[in-house]
Amino acid sequence: MVLLEGKIVAAAVKQDLAQKVAARLQEGGRAPHLAAILVGNNPASEAYVGHKVKACSEVGFESTLVRLPETTTETELLAEVVALNENPLIDGFIVQLPLPDHIDSSKILLAVAPEKDVDGFHPINIGRLALGLPAFVPATPLGILYMLEHYQIPTAGKHVVVIGRSNIVGTPMSLLLSRNAPTGNATVTLCHSRTVNIAQWSRQADIVVVAIGKPHFLTADMVKTGAVVIDVGINQIADASKKSGFRLVGDVDFEAVSPKCSYITPVPGGVGVMTVVALLANTWAAAVSN
Ligand code: GUN
Repeated sequence: MVLLEGKIVAAAVKQDLAQKVAARLQEGGRAPHLAAILVGNNPASEAYVGHKVKACSEVGFESTLVRLPETTTETELLAEVVALNENPLIDGFIVQLPLPDHIDSSKILLAVAPEKDVDGFHPINIGRLALGLPAFVPATPLGILYMLEHYQIPTAGKHVVVIGRSNIVGTPMSLLLSRNAPTGNATVTLCHSRTVNIAQWSRQADIVVVAIGKPHFLTADMVKTGAVVIDVGINQIADASKKSGFRLVGDVDFEAVSPKCSYITPVPGGVGVMTVVALLANTWAAAVSN
């Protein structure tokens, strides 16, 4: 079993980006600039946005964090989005999800200029992805592609089972792996909450991608020997031995599943790290194309 180490792949992508930024500055250009809007104080969102801002400084990008209170109205948030759309110094930006319940997320995401939508959540970018046209691809599935490429794991002709159909991970992952492109051309089965007997599908998979947010969901009896397992879950579970009182686990029962795998991602240190560098890669692409 080989561990798919996000840290190693992320370091390679970051080094490449840092070199490109340095060369751009040398030529008299400016550094790419990513902005993030964070509404409220959700601790997980605070942590994710903190990682994104830190990663920007590591590769020489500028970043701006727009913090808004939980009580921000939809109209006020829309005004912030429009301001970033119109700011020529911002190459790309994200609105960290989830948003407070009183705000309609789809309305906000629709307001983001597609050419600055480095999260790839705008319907135009999802539509372009579905049509096989150039598009900003959501960061988590893109990060998984980088990982498969880095470890030279073939996907063409393979059976991939994606578990979870979220707009952010499962749906774009299934589109990416099935399209006619390098690191695509797989036969994809998309399982979800209404799938009858998920194990019956996952046991047939050469590659399993699990993104349903349930700790230890994928058990050893659900994978075939030699499978590649990609764990997108980040779940907090109680652990009295930790100072914080909890630890992070994925959607995969790692202890039991890993001995059966050819490759598997750890949690933490797997997909999560890749999500952040994929966002940087999208921001670079936005900066050089806008
Ligand atoms: N919330 C969880 N994942 C993401 C992400 O990739 N982007 C944004 N904007 N919010 C998220």
